[in-house]
Amino acid sequence: MRHLMSPLDLTVKELDQILDLANDIEANPQKYAHACEGKKLATLFYEPSTRTRLSFEAAMLNLGGSVLGFSSADSSSAAKGESVSDTIRVISCYADIAAIRHPKEGAPLVASLKSGIPVINAGDGGHQHPTQTLTDLLTIRSMKGRLDNITIGLCGDLKFGRTVHSLINALVRYPNVRFVLISPEELRIPDYVREDVLRKNHQEFKEVIRLEDALPELDLLYMTRVQKERFFNEEDYVRMKDFYILDKQKMELAPKDMYVLHPLPRVNEISVEVDDDPRAAYFKQVQYGVYVRMALILTLLEVKVC
Ligand code: CP
Repeated sequence: MRHLMSPLDLTVKELDQILDLANDIEANPQKYAHACEGKKLATLFYEPSTRTRLSFEAAMLNLGGSVLGFSSADSSSAAKGESVSDTIRVISCYADIAAIRHPKEGAPLVASLKSGIPVINAGDGGHQHPTQTLTDLLTIRSMKGRLDNITIGLCGDLKFGRTVHSLINALVRYPNVRFVLISPEELRIPDYVREDVLRKNHQEFKEVIRLEDALPELDLLYMTRVQKERFFNEEDYVRMKDFYILDKQKMELAPKDMYVLHPLPRVNEISVEVDDDPRAAYFKQVQYGVYVRMALILTLLEVKVC
């Protein structure tokens, strides 16, 4: 039985196989419509979500399976003090696979140790978000035709942004990927990513503050929101929240084939006027999230479709 806690739980070959499967699902959805008949997915969400929870549920329904779960800690027995370890032992009696989102880093890993079913980390605190990374990789590969030989700008809250941490972990394994890390001083990438992932892998990267300076050299721009829920005080959040706003004027500085990605939700960091730019890929990215989660469920449940 396999779990998914981080993109590093998958080899590059396995990652590529999941992306290939997602492409086949996109092209031939009917072929997969009954693949998980009789199987159940549990979504255990201790923290708010729109995309991750609902795309997991849509993915399982598209595969002919069923879904159950809760969307907040308050509506589960966590509110009475139940541990994630006990909860997953119980859920293992009800479902075949579980996706867990939790505000505490490592909580899905703790659950996986006591689980009788595959557990997927659907986002743990400021740590990792591997299924967003699968979504991002599928989007990049579909838009640019490759995952190697790219210069990617990661902009915004690089300190708390778990999607950024997971994406860097995944992309360092592809050749000739250059990172431009764009953030205010207070929201720079944590040391455990800069030293243990980027420097350890001899990865080419630079850290800059001004988005305008970085834009002309990028193949991809990955915007992120300032993570209000991870700040210790409101004052710091208010000071930081509008540090970056991508608008039409800034887009003029970017190459004509530079796609803009964002894991969403967006707050103010991308002006709505950018949505009509053909380079805005963030809503397409949402659709890729369903295909890739379908591919992941099939992979972890070891369901083969001929
Ligand atoms: N991208 C993402 O994780 O969105 P949600 O928080 O809505 O799930």
